Amino acid sequence: MPEAIMLVGGKGTRLRPLTTHTPKPMLPVAGVPFIAHQLARAAAAGVTRVVLATSYLAEVFEDHFQDGSPYGIELVYLTEKEPLGTGGAIRNAASGLTCGPDEPVLVFNGDILSGVDIAALRDSHVATGADVTLHLTRVEDPRAFGLVPTDDSGRVLEFLEKPETPEQIVTDQINAGCYVFTRSVIDRIPAGREVSVERETFPELLASGALLRGVVDTSYWLDLGTPGAFVRGSADLVLGKVDSPAVPGPTGEALLLPGAQVDRSAVLSSGTVVSEDAVVGAGAIVEGSVILPGAEIGPDAYIKDSIVGAFSVIGERCSLNGAVIGDGAVLEPDNELPPGLRIACGTLLPIGAVRLTAGPGGCPAGASAAATVHGPGIRVSS
Ligand code: GTP
Repeated sequence: MPEAIMLVGGKGTRLRPLTTHTPKPMLPVAGVPFIAHQLARAAAAGVTRVVLATSYLAEVFEDHFQDGSPYGIELVYLTEKEPLGTGGAIRNAASGLTCGPDEPVLVFNGDILSGVDIAALRDSHVATGADVTLHLTRVEDPRAFGLVPTDDSGRVLEFLEKPETPEQIVTDQINAGCYVFTRSVIDRIPAGREVSVERETFPELLASGALLRGVVDTSYWLDLGTPGAFVRGSADLVLGKVDSPAVPGPTGEALLLPGAQVDRSAVLSSGTVVSEDAVVGAGAIVEGSVILPGAEIGPDAYIKDSIVGAFSVIGERCSLNGAVIGDGAVLEPDNELPPGLRIACGTLLPIGAVRLTAGPGGCPAGASAAATVHGPGIRVSS
């Protein structure tokens, strides 16, 4: 299976503001753009040529990966002017394939971190003569996913997107976002319009009598679409919980990239990444977080399970838990953010502006506090 299509054109809305300037598949995860891990794993499984189906911020991919030669894989880019959805993108990318109609083609989402055995998926596809073979994984709570029940032979029985009622939860097997298609099946997807592979292509293929098979592989699997999952995936790669030949350093509690400066009294743990030219000050504690290039973490700051954007500044004694800080934002000292807060790129939070506990300083009473913000000449009516 020398050819693959990787879907990387989504807007990544659930990861805003990080995806404002960088497409989700290009966000650094364990020190390299996320898809570098997937390309390395595909290459290790024998894939030699990948068509990248781009749309949102398409140029960012080609600027970084070029023709793929430094990564040992040939890369071709096919860009949709308007996003065509997952199925439309696969169809559009097919014009970049060179293989014949009966050949297997690997298709995968550009935001899934997994340890799936790609070669085994291909072998199963070829051995059974399936039209499409889907990687399925098992999850405890399948409500946010597409359910894929199969019979004993692995034949797909149904596709149930995001079930709502308990009766609809007929299996814990979900679509894991990685498939092997027989090339001619891709060519049958309607061209030039938006198509969802999950909602439209797969159910229609099933209805037409095509053989769709699921292969359950319960190795590591994570959809990096949300901030919480994004930091967890990065940390798991750094800790070595999932293997990737693309991690730029030994696995362990923390990964420091070239030019990172970490004070000797700072404590980094739980798979933290300190990116190029980022600075971590004295006494700071950083757990399971991603500190992006050029960011500064002030002395005695506490950062847990958070993403700190490029060139942002986190002041002394600030505390973040599950936070996302946009690029270039400045948090002056003593800000204590509630869990899950997102700060837009370039925002300035003045000293102690956001707190969960009483701050170290006083708090001026009504009119004088308003005067500090609005100026002394302006009356603030109630
Ligand atoms: P959210 O907006 O946060 O849901 O993220 P997303 O836009 O990436 O959507 P989703 O996670 O559902 O996408 C799954 C995969 O398909 C990702 O790798 C996306 O980059 C990709 N994808 C989604 N829509 C398109 C599209 O219209 N064109 C292309 N080329 N890829 C797409």
